[in-house]
Amino acid sequence: MKSFSEEISLGLSKKNKKISSKWFYDFHGSKLFEKITKLEEYYPTRTERKILKENKIEIAKKIGKEAVIIEPGAGDTKKIAIFLNCLKKPKKYIPLDISEDYITKISQNFKKKFPKVAITPKGYDFSSNNKPPFKIKSSENIIIFFPGSTIGNFETNEAVKFLKVLKSKFKAKKIIIGVDLVKDIPTLISAYDDKKGVTAEFNKNILQRINNELGGDINLNLYKHLVIYNTKKKRIEMRLKSRKNNNIKINGSKYLIRKNEEIHTENSHKYTIKSFRNIVNKAGWKIKKTWVDDKKLFSIHFLNLDT
Ligand SMILES: C[S@@+](CC[C@H](N)C(=O)[O-])C[C@H]1O[C@@H](n2cnc3c(N)ncnc32)[C@H](O)[C@@H]1O
Repeated sequence: MKSFSEEISLGLSKKNKKISSKWFYDFHGSKLFEKITKLEEYYPTRTERKILKENKIEIAKKIGKEAVIIEPGAGDTKKIAIFLNCLKKPKKYIPLDISEDYITKISQNFKKKFPKVAITPKGYDFSSNNKPPFKIKSSENIIIFFPGSTIGNFETNEAVKFLKVLKSKFKAKKIIIGVDLVKDIPTLISAYDDKKGVTAEFNKNILQRINNELGGDINLNLYKHLVIYNTKKKRIEMRLKSRKNNNIKINGSKYLIRKNEEIHTENSHKYTIKSFRNIVNKAGWKIKKTWVDDKKLFSIHFLNLDT
């Protein structure tokens, strides 16, 4: 697995400059994402929470008793809190996140709120497709909870690979997954380009991290937060567009970023129920139940391995 420094050097040396969205998330980036989830324009979080609240009893039944719940990219862990009290004797909750300091801090508050549930947070990069950072007992009732449409950040072939890894390496029996749906373009664009500029600051946090952690000298004001909807690939793309030619120095290496050149920083794929079922089936899972809100903005799916 490449370090932050190696990935930045590689990403900025390409003709089409690209940096993985996973690098948004240091402690500050995670706090900014928390802020995004509260924005008026950002419909996914409140819609997904509403679906979870309205269906928590049914979801808890599907999860079953003595569950070991693993949440990759757990973030603020607020969504599991919605149905945790409905579960029958949950065994363990394991939030995983690349933003290690943040997940550790969040888990301390979680422990106070749910003192009876064993929680063991771990720093983990799911893009590595590595085995879990803890011992798996395949006889346990292992559930993956993967909300937030984080699956949309994967290229579709990577999404299939990841769902396969959850089966082969995490020994998951069931998955509860939140998936954002295809919808009108203005709603999508404004969700990623809010009036207050919080998402713009979040996008630029990659540049801020380069300055803070790799001794970069990037002038953040030279970059514009750009959001486009790629109709062919059905995804929102976030980019950082340079307003003029600028030379940047990072760890002694120089990069020229030209006027109007873009650095691609994130993809958020949008699915229909049908196109998501395709991905799920390719990975050897089956959708057993789907919940959608009234406005058909967001979906939550329950998957298992039954044929
Ligand atoms: C879209 S947010 C979703 C957060 C939360 N699950 C929710 O539903 O609100 C994505 C989360 O995944 C984490 N993340 C992003 N890339 C990651 C990676 N490669 N490995 C592990 N966690 C990652 C981020 O730190 C963030 O908490």
